Amino acid sequence: MPDLFSPFTLKDVTLRNRIAMSPMTMYRSVDGRMDDYHLMYLGARAAGGFGLVFPEQVAIAPEGRTTVHCAGIYDDDQIEGHARVTAMIKDMGSVAGIQLGHTGRNGSEVKPWVAGDLGHQLPPDHPEGWQVVGPSDVPYGFGKRPHPVHPLTVEEIKAVHRQYAEAAVRALEAGYEWLEMHFAHGYLAASFYSPMANKRTDAYGGSLENRARFLIEALDAVREVWPEHLPLTMRLGSDDFHPDGVQFEDSITVIGWLKEHGLDLADISMGGNSDDMRDPFFGDVSAWVDRARQVKEQVDIPMATSWNLGVPQNADAAVRDGAVDVVLLGRPALANAHWPVWAARELGHKEPFDLVPEDWGWWLKNFRGHAPSIGWPEIPGEEAPPAGLPGAA
Ligand SMILES: Cc1cc2nc3c(=O)[nH]c(=O)nc-3n(C[C@H](O)[C@H](O)[C@H](O)COP(=O)(O)O)c2cc1C
Repeated sequence: MPDLFSPFTLKDVTLRNRIAMSPMTMYRSVDGRMDDYHLMYLGARAAGGFGLVFPEQVAIAPEGRTTVHCAGIYDDDQIEGHARVTAMIKDMGSVAGIQLGHTGRNGSEVKPWVAGDLGHQLPPDHPEGWQVVGPSDVPYGFGKRPHPVHPLTVEEIKAVHRQYAEAAVRALEAGYEWLEMHFAHGYLAASFYSPMANKRTDAYGGSLENRARFLIEALDAVREVWPEHLPLTMRLGSDDFHPDGVQFEDSITVIGWLKEHGLDLADISMGGNSDDMRDPFFGDVSAWVDRARQVKEQVDIPMATSWNLGVPQNADAAVRDGAVDVVLLGRPALANAHWPVWAARELGHKEPFDLVPEDWGWWLKNFRGHAPSIGWPEIPGEEAPPAGLPGAA
């Protein structure tokens, strides 16, 4: 039975363990580029033992960013910055994944800590704002994103799908080996999928099939250019937690359709299309895991999820139970770049320091490597290091 530290193979890619750093927008890019900050921050997580490292949602178009400070891969000039990051992640023994996205009606924003909240939107005529787009002219609302939404024409939808494909080609050139489509959290694809944001009466709105069309065509466009031997996955906004929004049972059906179109793994999360959520189980440790198990049972597809899995025993249980194949950690990865090493020790893994690069591992295991000198709390009964270790003189 696999556990959190078992390798995981999807297509031709093998992760050294089941721990992934979840995509997290950092608001640190200039002109959409990745630079030294990203190299430092993402390289540290790869060195800290994560098996798969995602930077943030990476925009397929300038107006697909959350703020002007967010990363993109819509321009060839941006490839070099990404390539530095992927080379470092690989050098540290991890796999580099990219999450491609378009923020849709939830773009043109201010950094959350500057605005004091998530979702503070700038008007289109602001120097750091732009005209946001969506399925329909329905702003997100709730006093946050009040500006008019341009409803995409069918031609514009096709152009967005081409941007997805072009971004995927650049991602491949930059060295990414795992591609996740961001279809969640209220962004463009999620808003097409949600009846709360999508009021269209054409082939992209109305029935479940029509609301899923934008997602399926985006996946098809990427599948065409993304190599068959590399994982193509998706994060789906699988529930709006509202009677008028996306229903989880429908999402199970849609994941089945996407599987038929070449999806290799589904990562489930929330719809994020409205602030009006009824019982969204935000702090629950097992709710998303239970839902992942349901999808797996009904669709038979590898699964991943995030949310509240930072306690090692919970993350490990999610894998042992068979519900998920990969655990995505967001805030725990921000809080602790070496979360996998720490978790390995908590879970009684024989050699936690096997997870760091070989040179560090050698010192940590051999050079007076007992717990108190490193700063670990001592485990009762753990053997003290024998005398005469290398460098001990
Ligand atoms: C700072 C921050 C930025 C985030 N940005 C993204 C993002 O770009 N794409 C995404 O899919 N989720 C994003 N998320 C959500 C995380 O990927 C993750 O799903 C969520 O934090 C739940 O996992 P956790 O409980 O381990 O933190 C972000 C979360 C945080 C804390």
